[in-house]
Amino acid sequence: MKKKLIAGNWKMNGGLAANEALVKGLLAGLGTPACDVAVAVPSPYLAQVQGLLSGASIALGAQDVSAFASGAYTGEVSAAMLKDFGVRYALVGHSERRQYHGETDAVVAEKARQALASGITPIVCVGETLQEREAGQTESVVKRQLAAVIHVNGHCISEIVVAYEPVWAIGTGRTASPEQAQQVHAVLRAQLMAATPHADRVRLLYGGSMNAANAAELLAQPDIDGGLVGGASLKAEDFLKIIAAAQ
Ligand code: G3P
Repeated sequence: MKKKLIAGNWKMNGGLAANEALVKGLLAGLGTPACDVAVAVPSPYLAQVQGLLSGASIALGAQDVSAFASGAYTGEVSAAMLKDFGVRYALVGHSERRQYHGETDAVVAEKARQALASGITPIVCVGETLQEREAGQTESVVKRQLAAVIHVNGHCISEIVVAYEPVWAIGTGRTASPEQAQQVHAVLRAQLMAATPHADRVRLLYGGSMNAANAAELLAQPDIDGGLVGGASLKAEDFLKIIAAAQ
């Protein structure tokens, strides 16, 4: 049976002192988690957090990865560089990257390919905007986004993690109901099943205002295999409660 994965996405938050306090707080209360745990930290702090997590059962994650392998791409961070710092997971195609940095499905697929080529598991984010949901396009949007990464050259789809993050639920305190989330996860699972016999191995995370109070109900849904947590991952106490809910 696959373990659930709870991943924190710190986004552009933190600093040397705050990171240290947060990680120490997490490690103090973590014990032996029943699920896999990861934190996706801002790139400048990868070395710091790698050191703080040394020997701990929390994996290091990045929030993005370049679509290019190396060379004249100012400001970019390659998958090989992330690997140098022990990065195990990289978010790709987060809606904030799609929205503010114009990342297309093709770019997201290339980023997933780069991550996989360096032995990093991409957490591919998909999700509809409020406008798309209200126009009845949720299914077609997430299917299009997933289709772009489903046949990443030379790699099996079962090597990736998928995160469904409805854009209208991110940072808004407005969570998708467990039924709404499960409905979309079932669509994604069916799409994966049609692509690979190993689809049941792919972890489908839910993200969007997941917190200590709503995590257990979301995580109890049959196709929800974990969570991608933004705001609530910045407080050790809250993140630990979500981890505890992922049994
Ligand atoms: O990647 C996590 C995310 O976008 C959800 O953020 O703050 O709504 O938990 P938040």
